[in-house]
Amino acid sequence: MSIKEIIKQFEPEQHNLLHILHALQDANPANYITGEALEETARHLGITKSSVYGVARYYTMFSLEPRGKYIIRVCASPVCELLRANEIIALLEEELKVKTGETTADGMFTLELSECLGQCQEAPSMMINDKVYNSLDRGRIREVLKSYRG
Ligand code: FES
Repeated sequence: MSIKEIIKQFEPEQHNLLHILHALQDANPANYITGEALEETARHLGITKSSVYGVARYYTMFSLEPRGKYIIRVCASPVCELLRANEIIALLEEELKVKTGETTADGMFTLELSECLGQCQEAPSMMINDKVYNSLDRGRIREVLKSYRG
């Protein structure tokens, strides 16, 4: 589906902005919102491109740069931090051979940090796209990555 076709699924009302940005990002195999998509969205909603850009920049769930097929978000909020989130991040960096914020050479994973995922009772936690993984340790991380690498 083209950018225009995606956008036209939504009424040209400003309250649809976040829904449109989500749909555009989800439809892009590189998991980001392109400049063309921002422009078409602004045109459709009758607002400036800088307003759309501002919203896309504000929310950490959106990216304006190409990313991996799977976005790994590791919780770095206080409870997870107390339960060794730093070790989890280091393990993921080691397993994926990237630093936080980078994408693996095969374009499969992007590693990011996140605010609290609402899983504090089973911390440390991370999300891969929309799926949550709790009680992380080295074994669990290897098992989860293996399931994505197939
Ligand atoms: S602090 Fe990590 S899930 Fe809440």
